[in-house]
Amino acid sequence: MAMPEGMEKIKAIGVIGGGQMGSGIAQLAAVAGYDVWLHDSDPGALGRAAQVISTSIRRLVSKGQLSQLVGADSIKRLKCTPNLEELAGADVIIEAIVESEDIKKKLFSQLDKLAKASAILASNTSSISITRLASATSRPTQVIGMHFMNPPPIMKLIEIVRGADTSDEVFAKIKALAERFGKTVICSQDYPGFIVNRILMPMINEAFFALYTGVATKEDIDTGMKLGTNHPMGPLELADFIGLDVCLSILKVLHEGLGDSKYSPCPLLVQYVDAGRLGRKRGIGVYTYQ
Ligand code: CAA
Ligand code: NAD
Repeated sequence: MAMPEGMEKIKAIGVIGGGQMGSGIAQLAAVAGYDVWLHDSDPGALGRAAQVISTSIRRLVSKGQLSQLVGADSIKRLKCTPNLEELAGADVIIEAIVESEDIKKKLFSQLDKLAKASAILASNTSSISITRLASATSRPTQVIGMHFMNPPPIMKLIEIVRGADTSDEVFAKIKALAERFGKTVICSQDYPGFIVNRILMPMINEAFFALYTGVATKEDIDTGMKLGTNHPMGPLELADFIGLDVCLSILKVLHEGLGDSKYSPCPLLVQYVDAGRLGRKRGIGVYTYQ
């Protein structure tokens, strides 16, 4: 099969953050045939990511969705490393760490110093300005938003966000890469929450307000949206799946960036995050998990 235009030079991909998004992105990249370095600053998270990815690839092989050879090669192509410097050889680095502008900017500044001059720095941010992340580097033309949906191996969409200075060439390369991952691409201007979360998060926040003000039980709110509007998960169940900390961070970016009180996070969501009830990843959020 001919390589899509602009793909010739991408051979190695770095992924930073081995949480639910980074591990899924690393899996996609390895299965698509790239050499992948996955880095997480937390060695425990890195170990869990390696486990999750190899289990997931083996499941795809056992279901006949991947050949044994491709599965084994994909696992071999993936290197998990606690040293950020090992990503220096990557052609594209995809950042998927915590949703905090300050922490991401610090990382982008480090990456700018260690990555190859030609490397593209992409962020999987859900809401933060790509232009501002790019301002932490000396290569703003090579910084772009590549927003995967959760879970990355399953969801068919990637939202691409161009910063103020992202070049046409970098945009074309990242679009071709997303398509190589088998995804459909949509493009958003660099505004808070882009397209998907600008629309999704107010719905999730409203579901929290409905629960907070006693409109209905959590189960009836979720069943209402599942059976009433054919969503695969109800909004509260989806919030637990995304992570309540991630939802709260996105709503804060929407609230601050768009200056409208309609985005103000529901006090119940804030309280759950304060209590460490972050959703499925912590075993407790709106619901409790085994
Ligand atoms: N990784 C890989 N595969 C997974 C997976 C994961 N994390 N979770 C589920 N799957 C696979 C399962 O193996 C199964 O595959 P087969 O059918 O081949 O056996 C398939 O997906 C369906 O899984 P399940 O039967 O276990 O469960 P399900 O039918 O309920 O589907 C779901 C799970 C795909 C997550 C579905 O519930 C769903 O689509 N939920 C909504 C997800 C969503 O809206 N995501 C976007 C969130 S917003 C976002 O991501 C942006 C942001 O910035 C916050
Ligand atoms: P997560 O909490 O599951 O994982 C984040 C990982 O990043 C953790 O393992 C943590 O140890 C690591 N990390 C934090 N700071 C780091 C640093 N400085 N260097 C290296 N590793 C670091 O989070 P997630 O849900 O995977 O989200 C990651 C990013 O993806 C966020 O920007 C989020 O907004 C975005 N996103 C999340 C979803 C979702 O549904 N959860 C969907 C799309 C995009």
